[in-house]
Amino acid sequence: MSQSLAFDSVADILAGRKTGQAVRLRGWVHRARSAGKMAFIVLRDGSGVVQCTIKGGVADDASLEAAKGALIESSVSLLEGTVAADERAPGGFEVKATKFTLHQKAEPFPLRGEQGTEFELDKRHLWLRSTELSAILRVKHRMYKAIHDFYAAEGFHQVDPSVITTNACEGGSTLFTFEYFGQTAYLSQSAQMYLEGCIFGMPKVYSITPSFRAEKSRTTKHLTEFHHLEAEYAWWDAEDSRVHQEKLVTYVAHTLAKDCDGDLRLLKQDPARLLKIGTFVATEGGQDEAGKRFPRVDYAWCVDELKRQGFHVNYGDDFGVPHEKALTEGRVNPMFICDWPAKIKAFYMAEKPGTDRVFCSDLMAPDGFGEIIGGSQRSEDIESMKRRLIAQWHAMGESTDAEDRKQFAHERKAIEDRLAKAAGGKAPSGEAVDAESLRPYEWYFDLRRYGSVPHSGFGLGIERLLRWFTGQEHIRDMLPYPRTPARAYP
Ligand code: 4AD
Ligand code: MG
Repeated sequence: MSQSLAFDSVADILAGRKTGQAVRLRGWVHRARSAGKMAFIVLRDGSGVVQCTIKGGVADDASLEAAKGALIESSVSLLEGTVAADERAPGGFEVKATKFTLHQKAEPFPLRGEQGTEFELDKRHLWLRSTELSAILRVKHRMYKAIHDFYAAEGFHQVDPSVITTNACEGGSTLFTFEYFGQTAYLSQSAQMYLEGCIFGMPKVYSITPSFRAEKSRTTKHLTEFHHLEAEYAWWDAEDSRVHQEKLVTYVAHTLAKDCDGDLRLLKQDPARLLKIGTFVATEGGQDEAGKRFPRVDYAWCVDELKRQGFHVNYGDDFGVPHEKALTEGRVNPMFICDWPAKIKAFYMAEKPGTDRVFCSDLMAPDGFGEIIGGSQRSEDIESMKRRLIAQWHAMGESTDAEDRKQFAHERKAIEDRLAKAAGGKAPSGEAVDAESLRPYEWYFDLRRYGSVPHSGFGLGIERLLRWFTGQEHIRDMLPYPRTPARAYP
């Protein structure tokens, strides 16, 4: 078939721009039904679906034959037809075809909608045709543009840090390890450390990269490969960062509410919900400050609040899904939980003088959609970072999780062997092994040696934010080919 023929779009028909006019369409059979000398084809072209009628006498015999034989997902062309407004047709319009052809008559389509999640995930490459998944992915596409627009307006530069790394940014037990030309390397958990290195030449930078977590958790908000928006800026403290984060989240929410109205409604979401985000609600939390878009609450306030609600939780504990849910239920805005105990946070966060806390915050979305952003002010104290890195490494060795202990033993053995070899077989001391474990971070400590500045940054999970905005059950539907512990196919 000639590629030079001009084709119309279903979206234009549904918008009423083609009524009474001749059109030419191509796409796939979304639904099909026939009776006697009449066939109804719901045609999908990627911009929408429209009902087409192919009626004997109006269309020629070959067209009617083709339409009656077309199983769903067959690829088809409607080469001649006229658009009519028709209240009975879904979407309010119908195309009366006079010439209709099949490009490929599909085999019986394996997905019928009631075969269960695992089957649908095995057929993900076919399931991607669903109108809901397409709507989610279109919203995501718009989200990326909104993010880039936001950063351009804020004077940030986008950079591309490598995802092949020798550093464990978020700790060792959720790393994917591989052999890189004879040395051990990892798939990056976070671009943060590399972004920190960029701010001395370009003080405001951001990146969007895949991040990898060998998470054993199988929840509706964990992926093993997700997309990470990270930003880092020189001179800014943790609160400057929060002001920036709420501005970003609000801008993206409002942009999507305006530009993705149809797709959000298709996903049964009211765009008005997104427009309310960033509207300060004074009664929302423990420590609201007037003028801020999202409430800030202190970690200790959350522990007290959870106790008050009857949870068994102690100061120093991390929060789980039920806790997050209890703290955020019914809110409009997400909430910053600030200044967590150092011992449950990463080594690179700046210690809050005279306390056991660090300058950081997790941004929690309402109604149990969970953590959207993790951010902090970065430590400039090399000795503190070394101490905490070693402590965290040892904690892995004493973990209740056998995988963690195995990983620790493996790393330690590798270092011991390397040091022993260099010393002609003499076993190294424990201190020497600890010190050697810090070697991959030497370049990172350099950033504190040559013109260190206070600086802050954060990481936002694109699929987490999208899941909240689109109100979806499972994070896997935020990606065409999701990766989870149980799945790397198709
Ligand atoms: O809180 P996280 O682990 O923080 C960091 O990686 C920092 N180094 C980021 C930084 O400061 N530059 O991860 C940041 C965000 C989380 O808040 C969450 O939204 C998302 O990344 N995330 C995941 N999303 C999907 N699946 C997972 N397994 C995720 N783990 C983290
Ligand atoms: Mg986090």
